[in-house]
Amino acid sequence: MIKKPKLDSIREDFPLLDQKTYLDNAATSLSPKPVLNTFVEYNEKYRANIGRGVHHLSKMASHKYRQAHRKVANFIGAQEDEIIFLKNTTEAVNIVSRGLEWEKNDHVIVSKMEHHSNLLPWIRLEKEKEINLEFVDIRKDGSIDIEELENKVDKNTKLVSISHASNVLGTINQIQKVGEICDKIGTYFLVDAAQTISHSPIDVKEINCDFLCFSGHKALAPTGTGALYVKNKIQGELAPLVVGGGMVEDVSLQDFSVKEGYDTYEAGTPNIGGGIAFGEAVDYLSDIGMKKIENHITELKDYLVRELIEISDIEVLYPNSKRIGVIPFHNRNVSSHKVAALLDQEDIILRSGEHCSQPLLKKLGYNGLLRASLLFYNSKEDIDNLIRAIRKY
Ligand code: ALA
Repeated sequence: MIKKPKLDSIREDFPLLDQKTYLDNAATSLSPKPVLNTFVEYNEKYRANIGRGVHHLSKMASHKYRQAHRKVANFIGAQEDEIIFLKNTTEAVNIVSRGLEWEKNDHVIVSKMEHHSNLLPWIRLEKEKEINLEFVDIRKDGSIDIEELENKVDKNTKLVSISHASNVLGTINQIQKVGEICDKIGTYFLVDAAQTISHSPIDVKEINCDFLCFSGHKALAPTGTGALYVKNKIQGELAPLVVGGGMVEDVSLQDFSVKEGYDTYEAGTPNIGGGIAFGEAVDYLSDIGMKKIENHITELKDYLVRELIEISDIEVLYPNSKRIGVIPFHNRNVSSHKVAALLDQEDIILRSGEHCSQPLLKKLGYNGLLRASLLFYNSKEDIDNLIRAIRKY
């Protein structure tokens, strides 16, 4: 019988947590032993290419790779053929920005809090195709201004692309409301769920989005894994970014036809072992339960914010806002990189700097910030370690 992971004994599955206070989960999460074992098992026991052979190893690998798509689909309330496996969130946004048809003055809306991965593809499109790119501002609570968004969306708006939660601030956006606004007008809606995928339950039908993307490595899977959900009925509207082997139905020297479903978008040999382990990672999260995970992280981040705001010289941004376990703060007298390097000497790992969001940092007026980012395997002791160390600088 497979042992289900339990929150109170979970740290045993993450050996690194014995040695380090790991608080950089928004950059990448750790993989638990069952996920690592799945990856090794593929390589040791049935390593083969997929969809390209009749031998039993290829059949086994193909079956497991398809099954992983199904698992990831179920994890977010989608269907198997709505999930494209790819490298990461960045690649997913690029696929959407390159794959839809654009005309001059097509209107695209993003927010001022986006990660570079949800900014650069649209800025490039503005330069190349002369689309009309607009930015929604941030409210006093650190979430995007929904009223402003509602006023900006009109019949010329082709796409709205918004992060579910800011990777810098941790603040949560009302994406269901954005989904309603886009649905009323018939605008494509893309959600960057990179930060929330391992924090809260996500259901693409509830959000009512057309696209939703996330990186597997922020949800316990190996690096180089990720998913793009593309709503079934709009798949014909998204051209594949890459064409070649594995995605074709028929090829002549003049033309080719492509397979249906996610195969269209997965030309070439993918990260097979990583993809299969990605399926194991979402199973691991589901076995604990996303609601339980959300509650645990919420309790921890409340504790961390309470402790941080007690320290003189430390400023926590948006301390009272609704957020995931991502807490930005800084020491008024010491640079963020310096503090992070000092913490590193005590094996306390967190990220400092601009967090791939330079426009947001410029807007807020900071050169750099510290960011503690929590996952369900973090403990109160991790936070106590951080607070004890921060008090020294
Ligand atoms: N997107 C990752 C972060 O926010 C790398 O740190």
